[in-house]
Amino acid sequence: MPKKILVLSASPVKNGNTATLVKWFVEGCRKKRAKVEVVQAAFLKYKSNGCTSCRACQKLVKYECVINDDAKPVLAKMAEVDVIVMATPLYFYGASAQLKLVMDRMFSLYKWDNQAGTTETPLRGKTFVLIASAFEDIGLDVLEKVFAITADYSEMKFESLLVPNAGESGDVKKMEDVHKKAVALGRKVA
Ligand SMILES: Cc1cc2nc3c(=O)[nH]c(=O)nc-3n(C[C@H](O)[C@H](O)[C@H](O)COP(=O)(O)O)c2cc1C
Repeated sequence: MPKKILVLSASPVKNGNTATLVKWFVEGCRKKRAKVEVVQAAFLKYKSNGCTSCRACQKLVKYECVINDDAKPVLAKMAEVDVIVMATPLYFYGASAQLKLVMDRMFSLYKWDNQAGTTETPLRGKTFVLIASAFEDIGLDVLEKVFAITADYSEMKFESLLVPNAGESGDVKKMEDVHKKAVALGRKVA
């Protein structure tokens, strides 16, 4: 069975470093005939500014966000695929706000029973991939830690590609070594 891979490409720059890294990663996935879908996560339209903490999702049997906007089908796909990829520029040592808007709504992909001390999630067993670029060589490790803990918490495998020295959108296009790494990562997870 070909793997199903969902990529959230979350830079507001349409043809910048994130877009290039995603293109190369997808190149690798396709070599293994994976079914890849890329969502332009910075251009989704929302009815709320991120997760409203309404907690209505916790009362549903389904793993579903009750806010009916562009994020809803993306979250549903996250529950279905084998590999979830988040690609973001480093913004003030974190993910882009555009990515966080959808990421926080992943709250709906968990069911917590605090009394029993249990957590259920369809994310368990999937692979979670972070692809990130930045100007400096400091900060990407902080971002990676956030994603690695999230993967660990959800019992997902974790992979990452971190690309420093990319202060201008377009810088990674000159990095042939990074091209090879991105393709290899795509092949590896597919
Ligand atoms: C709002 C903003 C915040 C940024 N914050 C950081 C930062 O904290 N550390 C860093 O090294 N680079 C930072 N950068 C640089 C970007 O992370 C970097 O240029 C990235 O590769 C851009 O990716 P893109 O072309 O896909 O948008 C920032 C850029 C912007 C626009």
